[in-house]
Amino acid sequence: MLQIRNLEAYYGSSYIIQNISLNVGAKQGVALLGRNGAGKSTTLKSIMNVEPKVKGEIIFNESNISGKKPYHLARMGLGYVPEDRRIFADLTVADNLQIGQYGSKKRIEPYDIDEIMELFPLMEKFKNRKGGQLSGGEQQVVSIARTIMSKPKIVLLDEPTEGLAPIIVQSLRETIAKVIQELGIGILLAEQNINFSRNLTQYVYLMDQGRVIFEGTWEEFDRQPELKKKYIAV
Ligand SMILES: Nc1ncnc2c1ncn2[C@@H]1O[C@H](COP(=O)(O)OP(=O)(O)O)[C@@H](O)[C@H]1O
Ligand SMILES: [Mg+2]
Repeated sequence: MLQIRNLEAYYGSSYIIQNISLNVGAKQGVALLGRNGAGKSTTLKSIMNVEPKVKGEIIFNESNISGKKPYHLARMGLGYVPEDRRIFADLTVADNLQIGQYGSKKRIEPYDIDEIMELFPLMEKFKNRKGGQLSGGEQQVVSIARTIMSKPKIVLLDEPTEGLAPIIVQSLRETIAKVIQELGIGILLAEQNINFSRNLTQYVYLMDQGRVIFEGTWEEFDRQPELKKKYIAV
């Protein structure tokens, strides 16, 4: 469903993503692992056409999406949850969620607030609060729920566990697992947290210095324990 071929990306004259290829199938969970600075976020930003200058081929749902504007990609069914979460501090949770509806218009009828609350019941207890009053974990849930509002086919998730306490990470994992299974959404998950990723995905790409240095199943990943030691800070 999402195919990336020979992707290269630059920030100014810095050559960051150095020819990577990866695939995410419909309903498939794919992990993009790598330590800080490996190029995970830049890969997701390149797919969404925000920030870096990009070369290569990006195919989504059989069309070439290279150069298309981010809002256009959202309408086509490609969701994105950026690393900084983009929660508006002065808006309530409901209003923050409402913004996600604009992602889908024209393609499909988005979820309404009641429907999204049913999908993410743990938002009930803080739905009337403002964005600025939420914990990091709550913000992450709202950010993901907002992206799901527009009924994406594939969601790019950028380090959802970053800065969250272990107990929150566990509840976030259960929340994401339930929703992607229920709705049949494919995910490309950029992460450094291996246990979290393992639970949500079936296939792994490991990045270092802007390149993919391993790809395979989790079983194959586990057969090379030096990968984890060398390329992911534990
Ligand atoms: N806006 C930017 N301008 C210039 N260089 C950047 C920018 N963002 C990231 N980089 C550099 O690109 C490389 C990859 O970063 P990033 O994609 O954020 O890695 P990761 O998400 O895996 O931690 C790093 O060397 C980082 O310093
Ligand atoms: Mg990052």
